[in-house]
Amino acid sequence: MSQPETKPFDYLIHNVNVASMATHGDYGIIENACLGVKSGVIEFIGTQEQLTAPNELESNAETVINAHNQWLTPGLIDCHTHLVYGGNRANEFEMRLNGASYEDIAKAGGGILSSVSATRAATEQQLFETASKRLKSLLKEGLTTIEIKSGYGLDTETEIKMLKVARRLGKEFPVRVSTTFLGAHALPPEYKDRADDYIDLVRNEMLPTIAELELADAVDAFCENIGFSYQQTQKVFETAKQLGLPVKLHAEQLSDQSGAGLAADFGALSADHLEYLSHESIDKMAQSGTVAVLLPGAFYFLRETKLPPIQALRDKQVPMAIATDSNPGTSPAESLLLMLNMACTLFRMTPLESLQGVTVNAAKALGLSKEIGTLEVGKKADMVLWDIDHPNQLSYQLGGSNWTRTFKG
Ligand code: NIG
Ligand code: FE
Repeated sequence: MSQPETKPFDYLIHNVNVASMATHGDYGIIENACLGVKSGVIEFIGTQEQLTAPNELESNAETVINAHNQWLTPGLIDCHTHLVYGGNRANEFEMRLNGASYEDIAKAGGGILSSVSATRAATEQQLFETASKRLKSLLKEGLTTIEIKSGYGLDTETEIKMLKVARRLGKEFPVRVSTTFLGAHALPPEYKDRADDYIDLVRNEMLPTIAELELADAVDAFCENIGFSYQQTQKVFETAKQLGLPVKLHAEQLSDQSGAGLAADFGALSADHLEYLSHESIDKMAQSGTVAVLLPGAFYFLRETKLPPIQALRDKQVPMAIATDSNPGTSPAESLLLMLNMACTLFRMTPLESLQGVTVNAAKALGLSKEIGTLEVGKKADMVLWDIDHPNQLSYQLGGSNWTRTFKG
């Protein structure tokens, strides 16, 4: 009996322009290329002539896809979101437009705490459904990986509920979900004036339980005058380290707390927001390889005026990522492409930097560089096909999307 013929690839995309994002300092463009995938992994990128049977494409792969000269980029990665939460905060948006500040609202018991009440009250199924809706919008723009934080539970049970929903989203949608435990996001009402006691709860109960259940891939905190202090953040990081979990931090969003420097001291994957970042912390980030995650949606939505120090980050070669920060209070964003445009218009990042920010550098911010973020042989076939003339069009477009299709493995 003759063996069924095994073809080198499961699928082969030809007539495609590739922006591999794999080379430093440019898009890694390979025009009129061919890309072969086997078992969800990129096995070949090159020209048609380099194939074993260049004139009989069908003998190379089970499926042959003619991309008609469209562009292929790595799947987009949103490396900072709070996608799972109950309710919304349109009322606070309205309050801000009538004169209240984000900090005023937080101090009056609104802000993060209003989302905490709504998230505690919601069932797991309700949280799953509302987050699914938001996730679907993001998926329409070529998202293949998303980070999702807890942090609107602030008690062990609700934090677990949120993280379970995040994990379930990763099972039910064609997207990789990286979860982050953000227990130290705000002080829950039952711990009012007892922040240190709450930090003890985070360290002694929440973190060990969540680590045991393998519900978190990383640990985050909100180091801010309306969040937690440098010392409290340090304590959370120490526990995370003991449990073998990588850390990241909401740092320097509203004031300089030296949080990013602290994060770098712990070898953090990323420090995020960074409007008030100091030169000292930039140096530490450069040394530790901590990614600067910039969140133009939150900057825009809070009408911040202090820009993150982009040029200094560039000068010190700190990798920069861009994310939606999708959350009910500071960035109710459901479009990653819009963030690319905002990174360019508001932060003066270049179109290349902004695309690196949601591919190669976003992968780095999640500790997943070995698997995703660039189109290279050996990496996962997480890819997006776009109907564009050049990859700089991805950040140029203001709303709308030129997405054609996503390949997830
Ligand atoms: O990334 N800064 C803290 N956390 C969120 C906002 C949370 C909220 O307001 O609900 C952020 O901006
Ligand atoms: Fe955030």
